[in-house]
Amino acid sequence: MAAFSIKVNGKTHQVDVDSDTPVLWVLRDHLKLVGTKFGCGIASCGACTIHADGNAIRSCSLPVSAVKDMELTTIEGLSKDGDHPVQEAWLEHDVPQCGYCQAGQIMNAAAFLEKNSNPSDEEISQAMNGNICRCGTYIRINQAIKTAAS
Ligand code: FES
Repeated sequence: MAAFSIKVNGKTHQVDVDSDTPVLWVLRDHLKLVGTKFGCGIASCGACTIHADGNAIRSCSLPVSAVKDMELTTIEGLSKDGDHPVQEAWLEHDVPQCGYCQAGQIMNAAAFLEKNSNPSDEEISQAMNGNICRCGTYIRINQAIKTAAS
């Protein structure tokens, strides 16, 4: 165990964990930020997507020791009142079905739109390709991203 300083949603936290503890478990178990979900644990589904210095990353597969100088953002910190354009578009298009993967979908979409504010359908599909939704909400996800971009 070692003490790590981790900055999440604008606040610095001290956590006492093994250096190889995945960021996802620090968020969920230590900081009680449970909006970020566990799906596969092997960086294959995207449910655990958060931002690190503005880039979408898979928190299940990144050790806490790798993020000590980074600014992390989780779904809880994406906006103050759930009013990020991506979140509003998600509501407008009634995107979720079961909802489990949606925090990861939203975080990936938000990071993508920061880099490409006017994406084509193909660019959206490529960017979101690795975020799996077992309910198959992909069409609504793509529509919501287009709305958020407009
Ligand atoms: Fe991290 Fe699936 S839980 S990618």
